[in-house]
Amino acid sequence: MTQRYAVIGNPIAQSRSPEIHAAFARQFGHDLSYERLLASPETFTETVRGFVAAGGRGMNVTAPFKLQAYALADTLTERARAAQAVNTLRFGSDGILGDNTDGVGLVNDIQQHLGFALAGKRVLVIGAGGAVRGILLPILQAGPARVLLINRTVSKAQALVHAFGELSRVVPGEKLSRAAVGNGSAVLQAGPLDAAAGQCFDVVLQATSAGLKGQGAPLADFRLGADSLAYDLAYAAEPTFFMRQAMARGAARVADGLGMLVGQAAESYRLWWGVSPDVRPVLAQLEAAR
Ligand code: ATR
Repeated sequence: MTQRYAVIGNPIAQSRSPEIHAAFARQFGHDLSYERLLASPETFTETVRGFVAAGGRGMNVTAPFKLQAYALADTLTERARAAQAVNTLRFGSDGILGDNTDGVGLVNDIQQHLGFALAGKRVLVIGAGGAVRGILLPILQAGPARVLLINRTVSKAQALVHAFGELSRVVPGEKLSRAAVGNGSAVLQAGPLDAAAGQCFDVVLQATSAGLKGQGAPLADFRLGADSLAYDLAYAAEPTFFMRQAMARGAARVADGLGMLVGQAAESYRLWWGVSPDVRPVLAQLEAAR
């Protein structure tokens, strides 16, 4: 019997998720349908509940509904709770499970697909919005030596450090706030956009919503180590403003968020079907169609 899945968002016509999930299903011979659902904040809940009533098994959630999906879920995974946002819903007899696969999708893309181990690395994250909250736990769990969060509004970066740090300490007036996270070996810090000036990083993640537009995008000052990766969570047909900026600074490797998109879809697929699809042929297919 065909199993029904969907992605919900606004706008939604641009979503690549139907073709990604169809490609995963072909790898296993699964019989699924995967549709796009357009909703408004007012119709989001009834659209989800209507899909469940019609036999839907699961749903991906994209902008601007990740917070509403978080509120709607009956139970949450640890990483969804940490993110305070949900991009994957699973419908079962025990109600609606909310998960967040964005961070694992990013970390898998960086570590498995691009071959950059994050353990022991110096990581700079530009931005402190919903996207960063979604990825922070899996990044910290990968064991970096240091994660510096910089943001135009420094209080938002500091709030994330508080939320994610086991031992957080913000000294009023101090430029950086620090928190030791997890086993204490990783250090999470927050600062304004200029806090990275003159410092060297192995991985720089561009996670602001201004990244695509170029104009007005934050021009953070940072240096890159010899074997460095600059990664823009956004993706576009052409290299983004941030990727060009990083190349000019000698980044060994640059990437955009297409791999993260396929990675988060693969993790959703695993939650729904219990198997991990091979992301490489699907990513190659999307790359070819850019
Ligand atoms: P998302 O879900 O994409 O993270 P968001 O929660 O609205 O969206 O967060 C947007 C992020 O992009 C924030 O870090 C924001 O900085 P502020 O917290 O200071 O608003 C950042 N951002 C957006 N436009 C920016 C710009 N022109 N320059 C610098 N940062 C910008």
